[in-house]
Amino acid sequence: MSHRVLVLAGDGIGPEVMNETIAVIEQVNAALGIDMTLDHALLGGAAIDATGVPYPDETAAKARQADAIILGAVGGPKWDGLDRSIRPEKGLLGIRSDLQLFGNLRPAILYPQLAQASSLKPDLVAGLDLLIVRELTGGIYFGQPRGFDSTEDGQRRGFNTYVYTESEIKRVAHLAFDLARKRDCRVCSVDKANVLEATMLWREVMNEVAKEYPDVELSHMYVDNAAMQLIRAPKQFDVMVTGNMFGDILSDAAAMLTGSIGMLPSASLDQAGRGMYEPCHGSAPDIAGQGIANPLATILSAAMMYRYSLNESAAADAIELAVGRVLDKGIRTGDIAAGDEPKVSTSEMGASVREALSQHFVK
Ligand code: IPM
Ligand code: MG
Repeated sequence: MSHRVLVLAGDGIGPEVMNETIAVIEQVNAALGIDMTLDHALLGGAAIDATGVPYPDETAAKARQADAIILGAVGGPKWDGLDRSIRPEKGLLGIRSDLQLFGNLRPAILYPQLAQASSLKPDLVAGLDLLIVRELTGGIYFGQPRGFDSTEDGQRRGFNTYVYTESEIKRVAHLAFDLARKRDCRVCSVDKANVLEATMLWREVMNEVAKEYPDVELSHMYVDNAAMQLIRAPKQFDVMVTGNMFGDILSDAAAMLTGSIGMLPSASLDQAGRGMYEPCHGSAPDIAGQGIANPLATILSAAMMYRYSLNESAAADAIELAVGRVLDKGIRTGDIAAGDEPKVSTSEMGASVREALSQHFVK
């Protein structure tokens, strides 16, 4: 069976890191005899420039046909002045919502080779392996009503709605508990149930779903405390599950524990396991076009794609091993280089991964 994969290179450093990733994908497919068709489409600023909208119909049609999507990054200052309905971020939110990619997996793993790159003391982060499961198609990001209006005394007012239904909470709870079973069997649900009704329901539903998983330990934490605990003692966590906005914030904090957001992949899954895979970093317009971005987060996103949507775990293992090899050899892009360590370019990093893969495949 041929896997249909859609590539959305996007904006900023997206195309640069995607080039390296596609070369890795092609190499792995050839070596393992994996039959895959790669198609391309536009999302975000690139789509606005070409078609006037961030998530064009043609992209939507291709995305709905695909078994998996791999995305670079979207956005940049060039499009910041546009009306909010056609900003690049709308494309990202649009595709997540259109495909019902409700389950966002954001692992934060510290590669022992990079312990020095973390802003925390090495002993606090050595061996860190936590997984944030962020609800991605609900909560305050999508709640209605939202918008701008004005008050009776003529002031401008902006408003959003923080809302979760039982079924939205349930499905992400199941995802988190199922994933915990493949790890250390612990789930920490993060909410603000001391203040917000939507998250009081969140906590209630988490407790209900937990009854179906007697082998998994569930704990609850308020989001402010969770932010503090992530910095104080991050290794206490196994799986963290939380809503859309809290997950956005906590996942950036967790990413930095590992030294570089340039290392972290993510997966966004629907109910059937189809998914979109993207690096946790953004489009990094400040370094776009310079050939210095770290392609490893996107390459590792491809590994997650093989594992979670395509059921090709040998491909995923090979890529992850190759990345480990490259780090062992001390090959570093600027974001993960410590002090005066020499820095390689985006394409040199990609080539090093492919070289490590060749060595892996001849064995
Ligand atoms: C992320 C990003 C997006 C989000 C933005 C670009 C809309 O920050 O994927 O974390 O807030 O979800
Ligand atoms: Mg974010």
